[in-house]
Amino acid sequence: MAKKISKVIKLQEIIDGNDGLIQVAEVKKHIPFNVKRVYFISHMGYHSIRGFHAHKKLKQAIFCLRGNFEIEMYDGKWNGSNVLIRGEGILIPPMIWHVMRNFSDDCFIGVFASSVYKESDYIRNFHDFKRMLK
Ligand code: TYD
Repeated sequence: MAKKISKVIKLQEIIDGNDGLIQVAEVKKHIPFNVKRVYFISHMGYHSIRGFHAHKKLKQAIFCLRGNFEIEMYDGKWNGSNVLIRGEGILIPPMIWHVMRNFSDDCFIGVFASSVYKESDYIRNFHDFKRMLK
């Protein structure tokens, strides 16, 4: 029943001296699916909680582009929490309940998703989700 939950993945970082930092995510190398949508999350408060849902089919790679935050995942059991820092991301396969919290003030997140937005793909009730895992 329990699926293997992905490990943290690192973006390629190219430090361009005084001229900045390039962070690279390539399909296949960093993201194991074709990307159909990219979205960014910012302006979270210290008490913000995001996620709190699972997806039926959507695959996502969630990258912390600035600052840090914590993500917890449940696939039938809670799998501890990963604190992601700049340049790190995590793959969220389908049917993983995930919760993101403890965002730093400067936290900036980029999400690469395998499909366009479909509300029908969301499972937003934890009890429904647990029933669907069985
Ligand atoms: P949601 O995916 O629940 O945010 P998070 O996982 O970060 O907590 O989305 C919040 C709201 O924004 C919800 O009403 C759906 C809407 N939304 C879109 O319309 N399009 C999108 O691509 C995304 C990601 C969200």
